[in-house]
Formats: sequence, structure tokens, C-alpha cells
Amino acid sequence: MITEQNQACDLVIFGAKGDLTKRKLLPALYKLEKSKKLHENMRIIATGRANWSTEDYINIKKTEIKNFLKETIQENIWKKFSARIIFCNIDVNEILHFSRLKKILEQKNNIIIYYCAIPPETLHAIFSGLGNTNLNFPSSRIILEKPLGICLKTSQKINNQISKYFSEKQIFRIDHYLGKESILNLFALRFANSLLFHDWNNKTIDHIQITVSEEVGIEDRWNYFDKIGQTRDMVQNHLLQILTIITMDQPKNIQSDTIRNEKVKILRTLNPINTDNINKYTVRGQYSSGLIKNKKVSSYLEENGANTNSKTETFVAMKIYLNHEKWSGVPFYLRTGKRLAHKYSEIVIVFKKNPIHLFNYSNTELLSNKLIIRLEPNANIQYDILNKMPSLKNKYKLEILQLKSNNNINQSNSKNIIDAYERLLLESMRGIQSLFVSRDEVEASWQWIDPIIDGWKHEKNNSLQLYEAGSWGPKSANMLLYYDHHDWYEFH
Ligand code: BG6
Repeated sequence: MITEQNQACDLVIFGAKGDLTKRKLLPALYKLEKSKKLHENMRIIATGRANWSTEDYINIKKTEIKNFLKETIQENIWKKFSARIIFCNIDVNEILHFSRLKKILEQKNNIIIYYCAIPPETLHAIFSGLGNTNLNFPSSRIILEKPLGICLKTSQKINNQISKYFSEKQIFRIDHYLGKESILNLFALRFANSLLFHDWNNKTIDHIQITVSEEVGIEDRWNYFDKIGQTRDMVQNHLLQILTIITMDQPKNIQSDTIRNEKVKILRTLNPINTDNINKYTVRGQYSSGLIKNKKVSSYLEENGANTNSKTETFVAMKIYLNHEKWSGVPFYLRTGKRLAHKYSEIVIVFKKNPIHLFNYSNTELLSNKLIIRLEPNANIQYDILNKMPSLKNKYKLEILQLKSNNNINQSNSKNIIDAYERLLLESMRGIQSLFVSRDEVEASWQWIDPIIDGWKHEKNNSLQLYEAGSWGPKSANMLLYYDHHDWYEFH
């Protein structure tokens, strides 16, 4: 059912002692409490393997979340918030333990939302534990975190397992980028502005660049990251989501399925990259030591727990085409990496030049119009247009005029930064799936990613290149564009 109202629900967190809960979930829920978005009767049932009382759990988490909240905890709000929490000692591999949860859930008649904040290998135990204890009520919902598998086969396995107990309407798959204000604003930009709406295709657009650059390294996650790499960690989900939102056709309405189906259509038009063309369309790299903000950082192979033979990529750049009437011939250049010079995400739309250059007497080339959409930090929009320089001498000497919005167009004020998890938790309480990823989307993206990962495994494509931490990645990432007479738009 679609409703804008958040409903009285019991949020059951599996993995309540874990990293995601303290970093993201509890801070986001506290902030929702503060902004009075939680239903009066909403409860949080924190589950984990520990012989803790609810009071123990609350005290431990209060200390921990202080580091992640970015604001001081207000005692009156914490009191109200912590009164919602119940700790339940569950080992998800022990089916009998689920009856402890059942007892708590039976105390109220709330809608139940299960949040799986646990490693993927534990998912099946949770699905079957809930199913076998009859806790998979038709009104319940279940939230899954990424990574959802590491290839098409493993993601299908998880999707098949869950579908035995929950229907697609009950499953909320998280890609936290979809909860970001600046990503949501892309829909408004594209579909509310006639100026952009009509000129959004291969007739007017020359190429598009998407950069998601990170300063952080792998943050002590060697065991996770080394099996995954930057392509699975960032491209399969976050960058492909940005690409689909930028290129999808206008949906008939803003219902969840309508939007998600339009995105799937785009994923299915991605031109295959495989062992035959991988060196032409991709560049991958791994960071060596270097300086980030003037501080020395070590190389990927010196990270905690590292295996020094690792060929895992921490940077990837790609050139992508879509087999789509509207986008045929338009290259999309994507790049993302860890330990790069600055943390920022940006989309650059480069428009085609006017084929007729009326002002060509000075033999200068006509420059392209560009629309630069900065997603993070300080979301803003810049439009580069050509303007006549005031002069009596050169009647029509042109210059680029940068029309730029204020910084932080996506924040109502500097104190009110909405975290992606706040929005996504709220949407799940409202039962709206449009900001969650459908099974079709996940599987279509793996279908496209798998041949890329396989392609790199071939000896002849073993093209991993080192780049210095604090740089913009391997030099050959520039060549991807250079051969097309383009350059990456520089960070400003
Ligand atoms: C996560 C990845 O999904 O996104 C991390 O697993 C990455 O490796 C993070 O650092 C980036 O998120 P954000 O919101 O900081 O851009």
C-alpha cells in the first residue's frame, strides 16, 4: 500500500551490535526522533548474540554513536528514543531463538520491518528462521543491505532464497545513494524543467562524465574489499544507479514500479564489455602510497591484513555506450576510485557544439556548453554558456560565462543535513519502494558487470596500473577520453 504516512512499526535489526548499526542506523533513527518523524508506537528491536539486558545495550550504543552523530545528544530526545529500544539475544543460526523475537513482536500489532545489517552469508539463516517461525507475515517488510551477491549467480541465489519467504513487494534492497538528496534532485532537474527535458538525448548531448571520487582507502575492510574491488563495490550499484537516473525515459508517474522499470530498461541497453574489448573500454588501477591532505598514506598492499600479491582494483574508469535510440553514439565516461585527490561526486553533461560558427573570424573554436551537477560535497549546479565579451574592438569575441547556483542547493540549512539512511528508513516505514532497488535491477546490473570482471582475469587483459594515493588515478584513465578528443572535467 502506498502512503506518505509512516506507520506504527517494529523495526527489528539483525546485526544490532555491528558496524552499520552504530555508524548509520542508530544515528539516523535518533535524528528521525529529533525531527518527530517516528510514530508514537514505533519500537526498535535490536538483536544480536550477547547476554545483554536492554539497558546494557542502550548504554553501550549511546557511547558509541556519539562518534558518528556529528551533533551532541540531547538528553530529552535520547530518553524518548531509547525507551523504544528492546534488546533481544538471538543467534540467527539457532532456530529456537526466533521464538524469543516472536514473543516480543506479539506484544503489539505493529507492522514489522526486518533490517538485515549482517554479512551476506548469514542472510539465509535469517530468511528461513523467520519463515519457519511464521514471522514472515504478509504485512511485514524486509530490508537488505548491499552487497547482494558478488556476481549474477550469487545474487540470484540470495533472491531465490528470500523469495521463498517474502514477496518482491515486501523486499527493500538498499543502495544508500538513492537516499541522497542530491540524487533525488536529479529526477526533479530532468523531469520538471522543460529546458532540460527536451534537450536530453543524442541530438544535443555530446558526452556525459560521472565521477565518484573518494579520499578514503579501504578503511580496515581488507577481507571484504579484496574479494570485491571498486567495480563491484561502487560501479555495480552506485554509479550504475546514477547512470540510469540520468538516462531513463520519463516514467508515466512516480510509483515505485514505474520508476524502477524505466531504470531496468536502461540497464538492459548497456553495451557489453568483455574480454574482447575490455582494454578499449576500461582502465583499472590500484593505489600506491602517497599524500592525502598532506598526510602520508600507505599503499593498498600495505593495508592491514593485505595479501601482497593482490590484483584487486581500487580505481576503475570506463567508457560505456547504450544501445538505445536516444543515446546511441553518446559515450558515458565513468570513474571512481579510493585514495584519490578529493572526495567529490559530479555529473558533467557536455552539449554538442553549434555546427555553424557565425563568429569564426578570430579562428577560435566554438566551445561546448556544459551542465555540471555537483552531487557532493556542497551540491550545486553550474551552467557554462557562451557570452559576448564587451568590447568595441572585437565585436564578437566569446567567453564562457559560468552560471552557478549557491552551494548546498539540497540542504534547507547547514544544520539540517539529511542523511541517506534517515530517508531510506522513513521510506521503508511508509512502505514506498521507489528508492530501493528491484530484483530486476540488481540482476541486470550483475549481468553486465560479470563479463567485465571475467575479462580482467584473462592474462592478456591484466592491465592493473598503480597510481599514487592523492592523485586522480592512472594516467591511462585520461587516454580513454583523449582518443575521443575529450578531457575529464577538472575538480574545482
Ligand atoms: C559504500 C562502499 O557502498 O559506499 C564504500 O562500500 C564507499 O566502499 C561508500 O566508501 C561511499 O559512500 P559515500 O556516501 O561516502 O559516497
